[in-house]
Amino acid sequence: MVCIAVLSVMLSVLCSCTPQSEEDRFIDNLLSRMTLEEKIGQMNQLDPSWDSEVKEQLIREGKVGSVFNIVGAEQVNRLQRMAVEQTRLGIPLVAARDVIHGFRTIYPIPLGQAASWNTGLVEQAARLTAQEAAAEGIRWTFSPMVDVARDPRWGRIAEGYGEDTYLASAFAAAATRGYQPSIAACVKHFAGYSASEGGRDYNTTWIPETLLRDVYLPPFKAALDAGAMSVMCSFNDLNGLPSSANHHLNVDILRDEWQSDALLVSDWGSGSDLVPHGLCADKKEAALRCINARMEMDMQANIYTDYLAELVREKKVDEKQIDVCVRSILRMKYRLGLFEHPYVSEQKPAPYSEQALVTATQLAEESAILLKNNGILPLRDNLRILLCGPMADQPKEQLGTWVFDGEPDHSVTPLNAFLTHTDNPDAHIRMVAGLSYSRDRNTTRFAEVERAAREADVILFFCGEEAILSGEARCRADLNLPGAQAEMMDMLSATGKPVVMVVMAGRPLTIGKQVEQADAVLYTFHGGTMAGQALYNLLTGKAVPSGRTPVTFPKMVGQVPLYYNRHNTGRPSYDPPMLIDSIPVGCPQFSIGQSSYWLETPTEPLFPFGYGLSYTTFMYNDIEVLPVEGQANHYTVSCCITNTGDRDASETVQLYTRQLSGDLVRPIRELKGFEKIHIPAGESRTVRFTLTPEQLAYWHERKDNCESRVWLATDTALFQVWIAPDSRCATVPDTLRINL
Ligand code: NOJ
Repeated sequence: MVCIAVLSVMLSVLCSCTPQSEEDRFIDNLLSRMTLEEKIGQMNQLDPSWDSEVKEQLIREGKVGSVFNIVGAEQVNRLQRMAVEQTRLGIPLVAARDVIHGFRTIYPIPLGQAASWNTGLVEQAARLTAQEAAAEGIRWTFSPMVDVARDPRWGRIAEGYGEDTYLASAFAAAATRGYQPSIAACVKHFAGYSASEGGRDYNTTWIPETLLRDVYLPPFKAALDAGAMSVMCSFNDLNGLPSSANHHLNVDILRDEWQSDALLVSDWGSGSDLVPHGLCADKKEAALRCINARMEMDMQANIYTDYLAELVREKKVDEKQIDVCVRSILRMKYRLGLFEHPYVSEQKPAPYSEQALVTATQLAEESAILLKNNGILPLRDNLRILLCGPMADQPKEQLGTWVFDGEPDHSVTPLNAFLTHTDNPDAHIRMVAGLSYSRDRNTTRFAEVERAAREADVILFFCGEEAILSGEARCRADLNLPGAQAEMMDMLSATGKPVVMVVMAGRPLTIGKQVEQADAVLYTFHGGTMAGQALYNLLTGKAVPSGRTPVTFPKMVGQVPLYYNRHNTGRPSYDPPMLIDSIPVGCPQFSIGQSSYWLETPTEPLFPFGYGLSYTTFMYNDIEVLPVEGQANHYTVSCCITNTGDRDASETVQLYTRQLSGDLVRPIRELKGFEKIHIPAGESRTVRFTLTPEQLAYWHERKDNCESRVWLATDTALFQVWIAPDSRCATVPDTLRINL
């Protein structure tokens, strides 16, 4: 920490000697002409629900820096004219919105995007999203959400890139590159939000500093390194201190250590939430705590507009603190080019372009995970197919959470796709939903489904969760299929006909029994506008599944949090443990051993992180670790992968390590690299990764006289290395070792 402080002093000395940039000159000049009220106005992001006359009056008075949820070039331009032409200094507004996984064209939810393991495609989707949004006046999106989530009960697992820090960091950077420069990205929620106790949203988080830095912070850093123009505070209290008032996060780490100049905005009312948190007695005190922790823009709560001027007059806040915040706001507007081009062209390009729809289809295809296949997929031609289940024809539900602007009318559902593409007049496609929505418990239509099933050659059961069951404040204490879907699967399976289960959900569900019953399982996280088309392509073999789990699938909810990069414990459960029903009655306490497992289940998940099948098979050979010449402790890890089946397909090759000894205990596996590679049938490709000491570093901590010090370092130790198709690494014959 000492070294970091010295470094930041040196950097600021260096900065003060460098000539001023055009941007700095512009901002200094503007700032020097602003009154305190105008500055505070810039720090106000207006609550969209305000009466429009009041809203417009505030804009004309220069009391608004950003408007929220105003959509449409005409509407945004109208308000912009008030800011630019009717205020004293003419500072433009920045129009913000939650454009999370698409604007009009909706792409898979971020958890699904992560299942593609294709960062290039996600970048492309973000770019097209930004273009659609910018055409309607939006210049700032509250995305990407990069909270590493290890608990599927937490509804917001849907909005992030899964459980792994390396994977989330790669997508955080990709999405940021895609959005910008058309619209500003906002990386959120800073920080530790996803570790909420019990998987309940907004709940307390307790995260030791080393874990925070190893697991939760790197995706933020990755987005900022990719140029993210803004950061959003989180709602949770982190080790007792809510983020909006957390000087350590917002200043020590974000500003001093990372040297970020991104704008820091609160989350919706997270400033005034300091009162119910129990940190502040009233909103005025909350405003003081927030400005002291350098929360720069206040979303919705009005605590800055209501109290900052008074706090300055009372000399509790120095106007220089306000200048620092306003500088960030003006900087983002400057970088977005708003001072030069405040207005949006009202001749906007039409949304749902061919390119957007093709990208949405490809991303939905690549994010579907084939979890099981006994050979029924891809479907043969001329089968009599029954589509059933509550998700087979749900234009709105397949779009997923955070869809403000996508229009269900444009959705292609699985039913639409099967009916449209079946040009064979003899083809037999029938649809009997059986359940109207995922929570439906009315089983009276099962008899009709059963009759139709008996006349079919194959049953496609579309099940899962409606969109409203995941996302913000949508946490679940039960991860089973909701409603009567499990009963429906029992009934379908009893017909003896092959059943393909297609899941559309916002999280991994505990579907162990249904996986046993099904002949094949294709799992998707809500796939967006083109979900049905993508599923049709995959089920019929026009596309080959290539998705991989971005989160561990638990067998039962009691296992969570369950994630692949856990510690081994001193008593791992290697042997099949004795489960509750096999313990002899009256068995002495210690006679069944002491290892780490639950009485109802071993520690194994239903499906591990990184897992997914294909319509072909791949063989991994010649795995090698070689030192890089001339670079101490750098290694090239390579492997030859052969497509041994008869379909051209993509494989996601994953690099994992495990540190076997060291200053602190390390996880049993850590993802250090991945590459999604297309390999034609019968051909081989060599994949190479470089492993550097920096990649093997982790955060250490020492307490000296009760004072804690953390630092990043790589231990001198023995490491295991795997190149593998998933985090179990079981299919790889040899474990390779390197010695640092
Ligand atoms: C609250 C959510 O936590 C955040 O993700 C979102 O961007 C804001 N509301 C704005 O809608």
